[in-house]
Amino acid sequence: MIELSVTEIATIVGGRLIGDGAQLISGVVDTDSRLMEPGGLFFAKPGDVTDGHLFVSDAIAHGARAIVVERELDVSVPQIVVADTVVALADLARSVVAQVRESGNLTIIGITGSNGKTTTKNLVAALCGRLGSTVAPRDSFNNEVGAPLTMLKLTLDTRYLVLELGASGIGHITRLTDIAAPDIGVVLMVGLAHAGEFGGVEATVTAKSELVRGLVPGAPVILNADDPRVVPMAELATGPVLWFGHTPAATVRASHIVVSPAGTRFELELPDGTAQEVRFAVIGEHHVMNALAAASVGVLLGCDISTIVGALESVERAERWRMEMHRVGGLTVINDAYNASPDSMAAALKTLAQLANREHRSIAVLGEMSELGEFSGPEQDRLALLLVRLNITQLVVVGGGARRLHISAMNEGSWDGESQFFETADDAYDYLVDFCEPGDIVLVKSSNSAGLRFLGDRLVEALA
Ligand SMILES: Nc1ncnc2c1ncn2[C@@H]1O[C@H](COP(=O)(O)OP(=O)(O)OP(=O)(O)O)[C@@H](O)[C@H]1O
Ligand SMILES: [Mg+2]
Repeated sequence: MIELSVTEIATIVGGRLIGDGAQLISGVVDTDSRLMEPGGLFFAKPGDVTDGHLFVSDAIAHGARAIVVERELDVSVPQIVVADTVVALADLARSVVAQVRESGNLTIIGITGSNGKTTTKNLVAALCGRLGSTVAPRDSFNNEVGAPLTMLKLTLDTRYLVLELGASGIGHITRLTDIAAPDIGVVLMVGLAHAGEFGGVEATVTAKSELVRGLVPGAPVILNADDPRVVPMAELATGPVLWFGHTPAATVRASHIVVSPAGTRFELELPDGTAQEVRFAVIGEHHVMNALAAASVGVLLGCDISTIVGALESVERAERWRMEMHRVGGLTVINDAYNASPDSMAAALKTLAQLANREHRSIAVLGEMSELGEFSGPEQDRLALLLVRLNITQLVVVGGGARRLHISAMNEGSWDGESQFFETADDAYDYLVDFCEPGDIVLVKSSNSAGLRFLGDRLVEALA
């Protein structure tokens, strides 16, 4: 963070200062005491599971120079008492962003969409990193805590701030753009992720539109020309729209896409020319859209084609547990079990079928898609149909929350043992270790809460 005194921070967050306000903070700001470093500022945030106030002494042991709390504590370091630490975090982030903007040359890029935010964020960060000092979130830090924590990593010489803007309801993105209005916006796609929480896809459209409304006035926005739910967002733009997609109407376009286990090759068309062959290591045709979105950011930042292509090719995987490919013991295991929505399930299954290419056995190990509410049942039925249509060799369904997928797949026709159901990941593991053979391609996917990513890790270990 930029250097601020504890008194200045107390003023910014409107808190009551207890102790020595002259101390300077310039290091890490976090809600996780384990990540504290000497000179840092610890926010004691109450959570659903535990309460940051219980970790204050740990934070101080790790070097916290001051703490922000919701109730006064008996501690050795200065403390700022506020009514709500999350609001205080936002207030501090807003002030820091404004100060860096004022004194520097900061460009903020905000990315939203139902799927692909983290992947695109990593691609954009790789690109911006080639242009200048860049701050980007770790992992999926995209909510009212993670986004401000990311912003608080800014220093006076930061040139690019890449933000992943997540939402599971109306107003969530506005809350973030009110802290830091992006200079460039990206809307990737609108799908059924978290549809249960949103209360339907129309609400998701409204929520994702908040990014377009929340940009700096006149700022450009990058929109998915292939997604009929995204296209109308152009009407909300106050600046130019740059379209990406497969449709000829798109300015940043991909064509001649070839998916293989070694990655995806495609031709990239940009306003200033064409790259005949981009060798993109991130597996799956769906990730080409994320690459196009990142390339569009490059176009708006004035990059030449070789810089854009170089950045895209430098990224080797989307992120841990996103289409993470392992070749072990003659098999291919794709661990995509960081999260799952109907769209990302469908995309992963299509990739599985493409990679198997009817020459290899394709095995889909699938767990629950959470947060779908009333959409859960019908979406499992749809996926079952897709599985049959894609001719997936073996379906392995894990956990009660996904049982309907198994039943629907069996009901879809000639499924004689081709769908197996297991209550636990351990049981599925025992079955798979026995069933898998060299040459097989195995996809493991579920929502985070179903935890199949660990089953994927165990399989990779066992098969190696
Ligand atoms: N355009 C797309 N269409 C469908 N699935 C996609 C698309 N882009 C990425 N995915 C898949 O979505 C899943 C999540 O990817 P990623 O982590 O990048 O998304 P995210 O939007 O950051 O998710 P979260 O909301 O959990 O932070 C992965 O399985 C990935 O392969
Ligand atoms: Mg994410």
